[in-house]
Amino acid sequence: SIDDHETDYIFPTADPQWELNRDYLQWVRGLGEGEFGKVKLASVDQNLCARERRILPRRVAVKMLKTQHTDTAVVELVKEMEIMKYAGNHPNIVNLLGVCTQPHGKPFYLILEYAEYGSLKEFLQAHRPSPISPTSPLLDPPVASPSLMNTFPEGYEIPLSMKDGGFISWGIDLNLMLEMGRDIACGMAFLTSKNIVHRDLAARNILVAKSEDQKLIMKIADFGLARDLTSKLYYRKITGGKVPIKWMAPEAIFERVHSSASDVWSFGVVLWEILTLAKSPHKELDYDQFLHFIAAGNRLSQPFNCPDSVYKIMLQCWKEDPKFRPSFNDLYKDLIPISHTKD
Ligand code: ADE
Repeated sequence: SIDDHETDYIFPTADPQWELNRDYLQWVRGLGEGEFGKVKLASVDQNLCARERRILPRRVAVKMLKTQHTDTAVVELVKEMEIMKYAGNHPNIVNLLGVCTQPHGKPFYLILEYAEYGSLKEFLQAHRPSPISPTSPLLDPPVASPSLMNTFPEGYEIPLSMKDGGFISWGIDLNLMLEMGRDIACGMAFLTSKNIVHRDLAARNILVAKSEDQKLIMKIADFGLARDLTSKLYYRKITGGKVPIKWMAPEAIFERVHSSASDVWSFGVVLWEILTLAKSPHKELDYDQFLHFIAAGNRLSQPFNCPDSVYKIMLQCWKEDPKFRPSFNDLYKDLIPISHTKD
């Protein structure tokens, strides 16, 4: 069953601007799970919606708590809701469409935009070239346009046989990669303008959707885990969760100082993930080796086929001193699609 838990701990009062009738939702399937939360795909009863003068897309993603959750998880989900309400809408973030907080005793839902292509990490990996790809039944064959849209069916799984490495696949060319980076920089510039620090920017936390004009669009997810809307710096207390150190700026790792500049460092790693079609950064280094590697001033190396101009942008994001890193606005301006001629 789907409605298999209750929120016993918090009773947010109804916010009529956001509260939705939970009868709109018909469950389709699971989309993902974290430690305490999970996301499900739901289809929306359009007739019922229309009767109540609500406009919702045909499909939405619903974030909720798992059956076994802690009190902290409830508080975190409420905070996430508040930050998403506060952030407002932008095309390059996963927007909040509504919430189900009522009545007390029923599960608590965040109703989010559904991103039909899943996470950027999986999307990149699914578009890697592989020896079997031209005849793979899992993906459409290459099309004349090198742009994208080799759509894969719902429930598609990444073939385990796809090997790590390689570069240009049929779907994703350099221009598309730069557009992806540009979308993410644009969404992050928006969040920065609202003083929201993400703290876990990584390809796994970017979702890929189709825009109204049928183009691919990147949407930043899970920024609701960000804290502190007033201070530019966030001093993170370690709460026992996994820390994504291989995406983190040195000052975030060593001094626990998170800022938009430390998000820019993570963005550089995301750009590296895009250009490598989602290789695992510093895969060969364990925790201690990685700390030494970064503290000694070493950086991820230039991906195969990555233009020098693009690697230069990554290296700027990875400047030791946060104030010498570019802003997301700078990055948005710098990530202009370039021609295929070698630089
Ligand atoms: N997985 C987690 N959130 C999602 C969303 N909004 N769309 C698609 N997949 C998701």
